[in-house]
Amino acid sequence: MEKVRSAIVGCGGIAQVHAKMLGQSQRAQAVAYADCKPERAQALAEQYGGKAYGSLEELLENEQIDCLHICTPHYLHLPMAQEAQRRGIAVFTEKPPVIDRAQWAAFQKLSVPVGICFQNRFNDSVAHVEELLAAGRPGKILGARAFVTWRREAPYYTESGWRGALSTEGGGALINQAIHTLDLLVRFLGPARSAQATAANHHLKGVIEVEDTLEAYIQFQNANALFFASTAHCVDAPILLELVCEAAVIRIEGEEVAVRWKDGAAERRDFSQTGAGKAYWGSSHGRCMDEFYRCLAEGTPFINSISGVADTINLMLDMYDSAR
Ligand SMILES: NC(=O)c1ccc[n+]([C@@H]2O[C@H](COP(=O)([O-])OP(=O)(O)OC[C@H]3O[C@@H](n4cnc5c(N)ncnc54)[C@H](O)[C@@H]3O)[C@@H](O)[C@H]2O)c1
Repeated sequence: MEKVRSAIVGCGGIAQVHAKMLGQSQRAQAVAYADCKPERAQALAEQYGGKAYGSLEELLENEQIDCLHICTPHYLHLPMAQEAQRRGIAVFTEKPPVIDRAQWAAFQKLSVPVGICFQNRFNDSVAHVEELLAAGRPGKILGARAFVTWRREAPYYTESGWRGALSTEGGGALINQAIHTLDLLVRFLGPARSAQATAANHHLKGVIEVEDTLEAYIQFQNANALFFASTAHCVDAPILLELVCEAAVIRIEGEEVAVRWKDGAAERRDFSQTGAGKAYWGSSHGRCMDEFYRCLAEGTPFINSISGVADTINLMLDMYDSAR
């Protein structure tokens, strides 16, 4: 099978994971890399093979590619996806796809195949909870709570050149860190009906203009959820997502799933995975990418398509509207 020719734009932190996973892929291979800091593109080219460029434009002028991995700052995901679309190139973009409503309206018009990297949907822990719920024994979900409490200090923002500013990051703890957990909440509870949120910058006043803490009360069709995200904690604690069901309380904590049944029985399973990506982000990047490329090859819908993430993005935008 001839491999899909892929390229990566933005060769910073997360691009290392994309390059590694492409290096292991049966369906795709990275043939080129671009970064406005060309030495970063060069480093990936040397490690994994392929050509290095100093800009996306230069890469697209010189390479015939089938798919573009977008690993740049948030505000660039849409324009770079549009650039790929102009050339009929498929897009696999890092989260978040967009930073505001105007970008979201434009993003939804893309017609090339688009995959969005919400890799935690592919975690074994999440699959286990989905199976438990589908089997019916827990009964209906009555309510939920989710906590993302991580640590981000000033250099994480000041040294990045884009994090911490509304115009380039779009927001803070919610859009950057907790969006994965919000996405899982939506997977379990369906589209939200409304959200009330407040946001604050407690820890990095004078350093960042985005929120480091956001809390929300989210009303779903049949249950309400409490949501708390903060990057003002002292460590990157495992995320906590708890579903209170009629016959059980199901808790995902990091990669562990604990179930307390109403009759007193309790189960606890560890789904620690190996894979690229830090454990507290979730390490399913490779699975997410493999599934994207399988769908691309077979012409079947990808679960993290534009419509597949729409409920999450709409909710995130509603939460920001409420907070602001
Ligand atoms: N899915 C996940 O779990 C996960 C984890 C980390 C980061 N991310 C996402 O990945 C994206 C990148 O994050 P990061 O931590 O790697 O950031 P980063 O700052 O380490 O890397 C971004 C890279 O893009 C480059 N860049 C900036 N503007 C460019 C331009 N115009 N043309 C070409 N290159 C340009 C920068 O030089 C840098 O090398 C973000 O959207 C972030 O939210 C996702």
